[in-house]
Amino acid sequence: MDSIDRSRIALPARAWMALRTRGAGYAWHKTLRRTLGRWPAWKRRLLYDDPRRYWTLRGGDDYFREQEGQPSRSRRMEWIADRLAQYEPRSILEVGCGYGKLLRALRERLDVPMVGVDFSPSQLRHARRYLGPNAGVGLLLGRGEYLPFPDSSFDLVVTSAVILHNPPPAAERIRAEVLRVTGRFAAHSEETSVSYNRYGYDTAAWYRNRGIELVEAGPIPGDPDRDSSQFCVAVLDRPEARAQVPEYPRAGRFLDLVESGELDAIFS
Ligand SMILES: C[S@@+](CC[C@H](N)C(=O)[O-])C[C@H]1O[C@@H](n2cnc3c(N)ncnc32)[C@H](O)[C@@H]1O
Repeated sequence: MDSIDRSRIALPARAWMALRTRGAGYAWHKTLRRTLGRWPAWKRRLLYDDPRRYWTLRGGDDYFREQEGQPSRSRRMEWIADRLAQYEPRSILEVGCGYGKLLRALRERLDVPMVGVDFSPSQLRHARRYLGPNAGVGLLLGRGEYLPFPDSSFDLVVTSAVILHNPPPAAERIRAEVLRVTGRFAAHSEETSVSYNRYGYDTAAWYRNRGIELVEAGPIPGDPDRDSSQFCVAVLDRPEARAQVPEYPRAGRFLDLVESGELDAIFS
């Protein structure tokens, strides 16, 4: 995280730096991302056929700088953290925590156990730096579809711009896992709009269709497109709600992942 203003460096020089620092796969990924803007279908096919690979290449210094350079993003996170803190959760899991922006905002408000899971090692490396060594936040490399926690392990489980990045079968599994591991609240900030790496789901409707109570649902103030912005919080501490949690085979699959090396590290 240096202080060089990269936008002032010529494009070929930036491409050369990308190639040298992160290799040909990253340089190719970056080139496709920048050049395929007018062909979203191709962009999805060429860049987003494997979301985990995409997010491993996308995470890193450039992504961090891009995101941190947007004050509106910080205001959004502060708003979400304020809302979540009002529920006074006794423990929090963030699925798809990225470089830890929401966890850091939550840590400033709450002194409770917190864990972040993400399937991108590059994002988690940044999270460890961004949160600092003494934040008391556990970071785990893993998939939202197979959370390595027993049922009802956390008081509140949150996803922010995560489910929308997964194709329907994976998105469905993530929702089911969120419901399984939460003891009380499931919170989501998931937009409904579609792009090359977004599938756009109406998460609030997903809960309503299952008769699970939402204590709030609506757009996030300040989001440019109010129609696609969505924040919602579901309550899961009632037996009727728990009965709606879809059943999937779990432990075996989780162990398979560990053995295949797909789930390969725990950052404490
Ligand atoms: C747009 S970023 C959002 C990060 C963070 N939640 C935030 O709001 O700042 C999406 C993150 O979700 C992670 N992600 C997407 N799908 C995932 C999945 N199926 N399992 C685990 N992590 C996932 C990506 O690696 C990426 O870090």
